[in-house]
Parts: sequence; C-alpha cells; structure tokens
Amino acid sequence: MSFDKLTAWDRQHLIHPVTNFRAHERRGATILESGNGSWLRDIHGNEVLDAFAGLWCVNVGYGQQSVVDAAAAQMSRLPYATGYFSFASEPAIELARRLVELSPNSLQHVYFTLGGSDAVDAAIRYITHYYNSIGQPERKEFIALERGYHGSSGTGAGLTGLPVFHQNFDLPRPNQHHIPCPYAYRNPLGDDPEALIAESVSHLRARVEELGPSRVAAFFCEPILGSGGVLVPPVGWLKAMQDTCRDLDILFVVDEVITGFGRTGPLFACEEEGVEPDLMTLAKGLTSGYAPMGAVLMSDAVYAGIADGNASEFIVGHGQTYSAHPVSAAVALECLRLYHEGGLLSHGQSVTPSFTAHLQRMLEHPLVGDARSRGLLGALELVADKQTRERIDPSVKLHERLAAIAWENGIVFRTFGDSILGFAPALCFTEEEFDILFSRLWRSLDALLEQPDVMKAVA
Ligand SMILES: Cc1ncc(COP(=O)(O)O)c(C=O)c1O
Repeated sequence: MSFDKLTAWDRQHLIHPVTNFRAHERRGATILESGNGSWLRDIHGNEVLDAFAGLWCVNVGYGQQSVVDAAAAQMSRLPYATGYFSFASEPAIELARRLVELSPNSLQHVYFTLGGSDAVDAAIRYITHYYNSIGQPERKEFIALERGYHGSSGTGAGLTGLPVFHQNFDLPRPNQHHIPCPYAYRNPLGDDPEALIAESVSHLRARVEELGPSRVAAFFCEPILGSGGVLVPPVGWLKAMQDTCRDLDILFVVDEVITGFGRTGPLFACEEEGVEPDLMTLAKGLTSGYAPMGAVLMSDAVYAGIADGNASEFIVGHGQTYSAHPVSAAVALECLRLYHEGGLLSHGQSVTPSFTAHLQRMLEHPLVGDARSRGLLGALELVADKQTRERIDPSVKLHERLAAIAWENGIVFRTFGDSILGFAPALCFTEEEFDILFSRLWRSLDALLEQPDVMKAVA
C-alpha cells in the first residue's frame, strides 16, 4: 500500500487519541512499520530510537519472539474464553495468581480489563459498590491530584487532573475533587522532601475535612505523575499518603499503569516504600503493549465487603466481553517471565545510573531547567530562564517543533505542551543506546535553539 494512499485514508477516517482533529489532518500520520529492541522503523525505512517505549508500555522492547510465540500458541489452542457464567481459561487463572504473588501483600483479588482507563473505571465502580454494600452509601466523594492522569473513561477522566480531558466533556463530576500535586521544581517550598510530603498530607486532610470525613470514598494517585509531566515525588511521599488515608479511614488506590513492571526499578513502585494499597490499577507493561490488557487488584476487605455485604444476594453487574482474555493473559505471563527469569528487570536497574547521569548532564544545555527521574522514568523541563524558571511561551509550540526535529535526528520521546520532555525507555535499552539518544537529543535542542523565534523566546 502506498504511503500517499495510507495518509489520505488516515486523514479521512482514523480518529487519533488526544489530538486536535484538524491539526492532525494538516500534519498527517507518521506511519510505523516494524520494531526491534528499542528501535522503530517507519514506512519509508527510517530507523529511530524509541526512548518512550511506544506509550510508556513496551517495557520488554519490540520483537520479543517468545511473546509472539506465547500469543500464537494460545490463539491456536483457545483464542477466546469468556469469564462470564463462571467460565475461565488456564492463562487467566495463572496470571491472577502470579499478580497476587508479586504485588503488595494487601492485594488478593484481580479483575482483568482491556487497558488502564477501564481498570480505573472498574476501581471506581467497585468502590462505589463496596460502600453501598457495607451500608455506607454516603461515601461518594473521590479525591485525586491536579496533573494526575487516570485515563479517559467516562468516569475515570474526571479523576484525571488535566484540563484537556475535562473540556467539553462535562467533567469532573461534582463528586470528583483534586488537590495540588507534589511538583518540586515549581513549588515555592523548593525541593525539601519533608516539606513537600507534609504539604500533600495537609492538602488531603483539609479536603477530606471540607467534604466531610464520612462522605469521602477514596484517594487515587500515581506513585510518579506520568502524563502530568513526570513529576517525581520524594521517596516517602507515597507511604505518607497511604498512612494519611488509613488515618482518615478512606480507601487508598495506587495507579501503577505507568510505574508498574520495572519502570521505576522494582516490579511495582509500591515495593520501594512498602506501600500496601487497598486497590491498585495496572496495564501497559503488564503485556508490554503486545496485546491489550489491564487489571484492578483488590484487597480481601474490599472483595469481602462486596461479596458479603447487602449485595450478597445479587449479581455484581460489572463485566466486559474481553475481561481475562486468554491471549492477553498468555502474553502477560511471558512478559512476567522476561522481567524475572529473562533478566529484564535487573538489566533495567543496571542501566539506570547511565540514564540518570545523562539526564543530569543535560542540565548544562541552555534550554534545560530541570532533570528528574526514578528508574527508567524521567523528564527534562525546558525553560525560558533558568534563574526564574519562567516557562517558554506556549505560542512558540516548542513541543511540536522539537518532536519534528528529534524525529529527523532519529529519536522519539514524549514532548508535553508545557515544554516538558518525557522519557520511558524499554528495559532492554543499552548504555550505547543511551549515548546515542542523548547526543542526538543535545543536537536536537541546539537546532531548536537556533530557530530565531525560539532564541527570542528564551533570550
Ligand atoms: C497512570 C495511568 N492510568 C491510566 C491510564 C490509562 O490507560 P489506557 O491508556 O491503557 O487506557 C494511563 C495511560 O497512560 C496512565 O498513565
């Protein structure tokens, strides 16, 4: 199929996620053709180094033949099994058991979804059901973080704290609330970890008090805010938020859709601080993007509340045709094997110092105001003035221009609208690939800075 035909049909028919429809039509699609390791090839044969693992999901890298084989074998044996009517499949049951074994001790039950948005949505529905079941129907208020991202489902997008997911969608709902997030680089308190933690705790306490402690159902957060600009709270923050939720007697939900599966070092970010949430949402690295799948993990107390409360006689009406899909489950089991027995988790940990050092070195570039990361999840924040931390005028559309220059230089990463660059390389990235990535990035930033209006905006 010719490129011209494909781009024309794309413009006419394919709606892309989170995009300005007309701007996409003008730009046209970048059509990807294949991938191997951390490298992507486009339809014209250009090779680019993918420092974003697709959409922070292809943690095992492209072209893992054992994952393809696992999917093919399951497709031949049993391509579909419903979870309805008490049916199940072997890989789905095994995967549920493995996830419970590997995740924090508090989590004992798993509901599988198709991705992260519906995992968050399922969590909200189960929490609502739980409180109604245990006779606390007044607990309907949900709290999350400004700049947090919890997907774009009809309800979950209201917990997301990013305005584009609300505008014209009539969100957030009246029972969805946001508190300020721990954004060290732009917090007047500076980056004193204790002060940042204390501030978040007091915001949560104050909001619960304001809403009425007996009316609040849950607090949702990511261990590191990904789509909000890779905001990395200090170590100890997640634990402090958990302890505050326990003290306030509200459910604590950790969204590990990005941070799970080795992204921050351990299998789950919760591990690093011994955090044991009441519910946890997963997706992305669960199947490394080779097949769609997400999950919500649930404590025994929440499960039992639903099972034995006022609902014990009726059907819990939550389901999807593709919940616990056997092919996705087989893919996930093989990804888990690659993370552990395949050595990818430890490889990711071993190249993390190189990633961190490269990010820190980028601070010497005139455009880079902040560098932050944990594990293989990182960001650079570009600024107009390093002293005042003034943002670059959004009308410069720096993110779009940098993405185009970077592509020309053979690298892909995420460029956010507010001049933040996000990095989430696959766990198979090598030190040589980091050298390539960061030398091409430096060159791309230089090329950007040479453009007269950018130079003027940062002068
Ligand atoms: C933290 C978090 N939660 C939920 C989601 C939604 O997942 P999905 O895009 O698979 O629906 C994302 C996606 O980026 C995410 O980063």
